[in-house]
Amino acid sequence: MIDIDGVAQDARRLVESCGDEESLKQVKAGLLGKKGSIAALFKKLKEVPENEVAAAGKKINELKLYIEQLIGQQRTNIKEIIKKEKLSISALDITLPGYNYGAGSLHPIEMINREMIEIFNDMGFSVATGPEMETDELNFELLNIGKDHPARDMQDTFYIDSVKGLLLRTHTSPVQIRAMRQTEPPIAIIAPGIVYRRDSDVTHSPMFHQIEGLMIDRQISLADLKGVLTAFLHKVFGKRAVRFRPSYFPFTEPSAEVDVSCIICHGKGCRVCSHTGWLEILGSGMVHPNVIRNVGYDSDKWQGFAFGIGIERIAMLKYGIDDIRLFFNSDLRFLSQFSGILH
Ligand code: PHE
Repeated sequence: MIDIDGVAQDARRLVESCGDEESLKQVKAGLLGKKGSIAALFKKLKEVPENEVAAAGKKINELKLYIEQLIGQQRTNIKEIIKKEKLSISALDITLPGYNYGAGSLHPIEMINREMIEIFNDMGFSVATGPEMETDELNFELLNIGKDHPARDMQDTFYIDSVKGLLLRTHTSPVQIRAMRQTEPPIAIIAPGIVYRRDSDVTHSPMFHQIEGLMIDRQISLADLKGVLTAFLHKVFGKRAVRFRPSYFPFTEPSAEVDVSCIICHGKGCRVCSHTGWLEILGSGMVHPNVIRNVGYDSDKWQGFAFGIGIERIAMLKYGIDDIRLFFNSDLRFLSQFSGILH
């Protein structure tokens, strides 16, 4: 007799004991292969009495299908087990402490820059920009600083191409020219940006930041200049005395240096204000008629004022910083003092 049920039971046990694809392959060969159990059963059909051959053959075929099914099922089981194993290895442990990436924060110069832009925006000035590499013409000549003008000595810079007259701009004032060439008056712009000078000590850096201001209309007067700058200085330094001191810039006439009463000694005189009681904050003046004419405007019709503010200087005074280089050497111990976030 051939033991079909016995083979079925063995087959089931064997298949279900397979834990991976490889052993399943071997078991499959042992059951369904040429020399496997099913083939052996078919061989044994010879020993079966003739009248039972058909029924036995049918049973073996059913058994073969059953085994194929078992193997298919086990293959799915194995995949499921492997998946679970992988998941258990890479499972999230939510009790582990997270990585600390540390929050970045704005650079103090950028903070002051944004604060100043906002103050002028509120007064109706919009932001204009210009390139850091300028022509001699825009940086100097059209601003009434001719080739031999002694004012050039105070603003020596990095010359990129002396034939083409390309240099790194020494101030944001060339943006005045660009703005006036681009639009018809009335104009009210500020131009924040980086400027360069051949200068380096504790209060001067070869690269620093300025904000230029320009207002042009038919009846802009010195009173407007004083009003705008006083309002600005009160916002930045609080309500304190502001002084307009006669000065000289080739591109403004008259020109004024603007001071605030010393934020350290409140006008009494101390080391910070060199015992004058005043801190020099910015340069300003009424735009020189030559500059107005240089951009093609009618200087009898249009007039206005301009000013230039050094951002590092404002930051140094506001935060009591005594070395300008601290802004540029990326020391987190210095920078994080402005962020309110510990690094
Ligand atoms: N450009 C001048 C400077 O850098 C500042 C300034 C701007 C003065 C506009 C008057 C008017 O020194």
